[in-house]
Amino acid sequence: MYNNDSLNVNSKGHLTIGGCDAVDLAMQYGTPLYVLDEKKIEQACNAYLDSFKKYYNSKGLPMYASKALCCKELCRIMKRLGMGLDVVSGGELYTALSVGFPAEKIHFHGNNKTPDEIEYALKSGVGKIVIDNLSEIDIIENMCEELGINANVSLRITPGIDAHTHDFIKTGQIDSKFGFIIENGDAFDVVQKVLEYSHLRLKEFHCHIGSQIFDIEPFVHAAEVMMDFIKEIKNRFGVTVEELNLGGGFGIRYLATDNPTDFENYMKAVSDAVHAKAAEYGLPVPFIFIEPGRSIVGEAGVTLYTVGGIKNIPGIRKYVSVDGGMSDNIRYALYGADYTVLIANKADLPADDIVTVAGKCCESGDLIQEHTHIQSAQVGDILAVLSTGAYNYSMASNYNRIPRPAIVMVNDGEARVIVKRESYDDIIANDV
Ligand code: LLP
Repeated sequence: MYNNDSLNVNSKGHLTIGGCDAVDLAMQYGTPLYVLDEKKIEQACNAYLDSFKKYYNSKGLPMYASKALCCKELCRIMKRLGMGLDVVSGGELYTALSVGFPAEKIHFHGNNKTPDEIEYALKSGVGKIVIDNLSEIDIIENMCEELGINANVSLRITPGIDAHTHDFIKTGQIDSKFGFIIENGDAFDVVQKVLEYSHLRLKEFHCHIGSQIFDIEPFVHAAEVMMDFIKEIKNRFGVTVEELNLGGGFGIRYLATDNPTDFENYMKAVSDAVHAKAAEYGLPVPFIFIEPGRSIVGEAGVTLYTVGGIKNIPGIRKYVSVDGGMSDNIRYALYGADYTVLIANKADLPADDIVTVAGKCCESGDLIQEHTHIQSAQVGDILAVLSTGAYNYSMASNYNRIPRPAIVMVNDGEARVIVKRESYDDIIANDV
């Protein structure tokens, strides 16, 4: 198991999460079950919040990227801690507003927002709409005209940086569906266009270079490119954009061998780069936003399953099947994502078997992990998959009409349900 201060092994040899025995949680709430450690989430948020005091003299704000895991309780926690929120759909916005999250601290993203979503965001008074394509500019301007309001907007810029991560989750390079490209002049054209409209207030430039990134260097490079862009915009248009959003993307630990950069080093390196460029160009240091998602909830989450069938194919592999699968965690099927797996009721025993953990969906590719080291599994064991807090529940589906699991929040030995397990009635609720 990797080093995660939320996890431990108790005297029964059981895995504990946030002070709760994982086997007891599985018995009490059933499996599959998502478990989240509130302390771990708070620690991550507070570390980001503190680092803005330290490196930007409080002139900055971390915005939790709620796509990583969005539900009412997460939005309440973010509100309580003073975080901002990045939403990418009407559904995420609705969830945040339903618990009274302050609209002005929400940024609305999306490469293809529908007119309904734009109207909803404008009427709700979100802090900023992040413009990601040309056609939405006219929609926003016309709706503002109708509503008699102005909109604060940000422009998503593609800085042309190739971060070393999975092809599907890197976004800063030129060939991406996201953002306006600097190299071919699109980014300058869109600035000119936005400046010509009377209801749009150009407040910010935004970039996001990808996800699960371990190196500091691409983040620093992106910050420098964006500062160069701010300078160039000032030169060409005489306008100084004073807010800069550097997106999310900080990697987390999935395996014991993963060694993510200490985010303090990242914050310092990026802050140094931003300050140096501001001084060099005689620009004000912009107000900085970042949008961490995975690094806030990822390592706070564990998924618990019950082992059902075990199928050994001699000379080939041993399948250990669990009562969930790609319906609650599609990341191995989609990205070949790494995970650490263990038997929660045998956490003190050596992981000396090598198995493939399979889900229960009717699909050969429904695997959670292949050729992974775990303790010897038996039917009825509780299997734990670590670091599942981000992009698991939020990417879950009802494939095979499997109900989505509950989410239980643990904190210092106490547990509470924050998302109920779906029932079969929930599954057919919208069928007519
Ligand atoms: N900001 C923007 C504009 C983004 O597109 C994203 C992620 C984030 C922030 C948050 O990035 P994070 O800090 O979580 O890396 N489903 C994939 C990840 C997709 C990320 C999409 N955008 C996965 O499971 O790995």
